[in-house]
Amino acid sequence: MKRVFSGVQPTGNIHLGNYLGALRQFVELQEEYQCLYCIVDLHAITVPQDPKELRKHILDVAALYLAVGVDPKKSIVFVQSDVPGHSELGWILTCSSYTGELSRMTQFKAKSQNKASAPAGLFTYPVLMAADILLYDTDVVPVGTDQKQHIELCRDLAIRVNNTRKKTFVVPEGRYLKAGARIMSLDDPSKKMSKSAENIHSRISLLDEPSKIKKSIMKATTDSEGIIRFDKDEKPGLSNLINIYSALSDKTIDEIIAMYEGKGYGDFKKDLVEITVDALTPIKEKFDEIRSSQELIDILEDGAEKANEIAEKTMARVKDNFGLGLK
Ligand code: TYM
Repeated sequence: MKRVFSGVQPTGNIHLGNYLGALRQFVELQEEYQCLYCIVDLHAITVPQDPKELRKHILDVAALYLAVGVDPKKSIVFVQSDVPGHSELGWILTCSSYTGELSRMTQFKAKSQNKASAPAGLFTYPVLMAADILLYDTDVVPVGTDQKQHIELCRDLAIRVNNTRKKTFVVPEGRYLKAGARIMSLDDPSKKMSKSAENIHSRISLLDEPSKIKKSIMKATTDSEGIIRFDKDEKPGLSNLINIYSALSDKTIDEIIAMYEGKGYGDFKKDLVEITVDALTPIKEKFDEIRSSQELIDILEDGAEKANEIAEKTMARVKDNFGLGLK
């Protein structure tokens, strides 16, 4: 069975972009693949974290995985730092990476911009991500397109090691959805929707109350033309909302445009509020049920055990091919 790996950082405010770009794919893929879904806490500490908040967010993301439909009977759900292989392989791959290629990563550039100095972990972050993926002989990585450059680096590292040593790694492919691969910020459609943006109305978090969802959508930046049509360059705000509508309703963009011919942005936004609330309400209900249960901890412990079993086999092969240790 082919393998899928993906991860989400436990940094709070999991939003519609995370859901439509990544989490929705997680659910779909578990029917056909052996899936590993990780809460990447080691990635989260590349920027300062409050220890209590971090623990809380780890459990929040785990509960959200289950609430959106990840089934622990089919998929392995676990916390990254519970599997030592991630850090170990991260270091080994760091030694096969070049500072030049890491300094070209747009996410590193954006996060280190205007800082007198940046943590080294922020710089080597994509190498740890490559380790996550390669540790499980992953074939497919479902992510949003903001991760494309990191996936390319992961492929380059795998190919580089395979070409210079014995074949060691499976070379993975990224998987990006058509609608949802890049959801933009509601207040500034030139930026991607993000967990860390200051304005809470720039995003819809999966656990937002209906009144907050309504406010964020009704306030979303559009334009003054008043005609509902899809044009990412001329009408980036409205096009982003049409994209969200399409991803949540499974209607095509053309169908949506035909439905709103002669109607205004107000009607369109009101319907989008309803569709979004309908999609997120069951997720929030399930989240509340799972979040405080002992079952969640049991699932993560069981997941870590299963992930470790796979990781240990890969690490034995890697160490052998690199000549590390005694056997
Ligand atoms: P993170 O935690 O920032 O985001 C989790 C997932 O959500 C996707 N995403 C989006 N998709 C569409 N529109 C958006 N506005 C949007 N914002 C985020 C991301 O592409 C991602 O799929 N580096 C990763 C975490 C990671 C990982 C991995 C992913 C670590 N190791 C190994 C896959 C495989 C990250 O920061 O995701």
